Amino acid sequence: MPNINSVTKSSVSKYGVFGYPVSQSLSPVMQNSAFSKAGLPAVYQAFEVKPEELESSILKAQADGFMGLNLTIPHKEAVLKFDFLNPDSFSKMAGAVNTLRFSNGFIEGFNTDAGGAMLALEYEEIHPAGKKILVIGAGGASRSLSFLFSKIASELKIINRTAERAEKLAADIFSHLPEDLQNKKISGGGFADILNDISNADIILQTTELGMGVYESFSVFDQIPNFCSGEERAVLLKKYLTSDKVVFDIVYHPKETKFLKESRAAGAKTINGMMMLVFQGALAFEIWTGQKSDISVMRQAVLEALD
Ligand code: ATR
Repeated sequence: MPNINSVTKSSVSKYGVFGYPVSQSLSPVMQNSAFSKAGLPAVYQAFEVKPEELESSILKAQADGFMGLNLTIPHKEAVLKFDFLNPDSFSKMAGAVNTLRFSNGFIEGFNTDAGGAMLALEYEEIHPAGKKILVIGAGGASRSLSFLFSKIASELKIINRTAERAEKLAADIFSHLPEDLQNKKISGGGFADILNDISNADIILQTTELGMGVYESFSVFDQIPNFCSGEERAVLLKKYLTSDKVVFDIVYHPKETKFLKESRAAGAKTINGMMMLVFQGALAFEIWTGQKSDISVMRQAVLEALD
């Protein structure tokens, strides 16, 4: 893994992703495939940057002539505390920056995660405007998606293991709605009423880490005390996760979380987070280069890396 302190000046445009850990990042293969397809002489690398090194590493990248960076766990929220950052209005509101652009001495911050999720739904011909949306989770990922989708949904409900966190996020989003949208229903709560919430929703966005890593064998239903399991659960979910519902999970590794499996088995249309990853990268590429990237090339690069 390259170290940001060993990077030297060169004529090739430099980009990268800072994370801790970062070795799992698919951004290098994805972005390098896009630069290569566009015929742009650029190199994109992953750099392991510890939280306490974030500020100096961003400034070092700027001094070395980097054009842009992505930030991943755990830096997306932390970067907002630096005075040198000029976040755009959406990333400021969402409280997370995943893309930096270095230009004319400025360091601008953007959030392309939520836009990536929106484009991933559109890619599957799901149009969230005017739909009732249920968001599961109230952490950083939920925050940016909830802010963006609140603008176009007819109703938005956020549910979370810790109900107060969802209520607080809903109140925060509501307070940012423009005056003409203040009659929109935005609410938050816990998991207790999840079946009703699912029944009322057109699109369900799963934004927690349930289903990946140490939580691989869990779906949201496993986090609800005394929720049924086995055949009884399958029969129950068939009543609620019907074929008119879309279930989107931001997780892409594994390709199908337990929640997506259960939702698909019940009859809902399911979409994993792979194209969100591709589109958030495509939006970052566009911010840096002013050009559209080749989505199919980026998708292919990710698919091959995941296999
Ligand atoms: P991220 O930036 O990935 O969203 P985060 O801000 O730490 O990460 O938020 C994690 C989200 O996943 C939260 O909604 C969290 O619920 P709590 O607010 O109750 O902690 C949710 N989450 C994490 N582990 C969970 C678990 N085992 N069961 C249910 N929800 C979980």
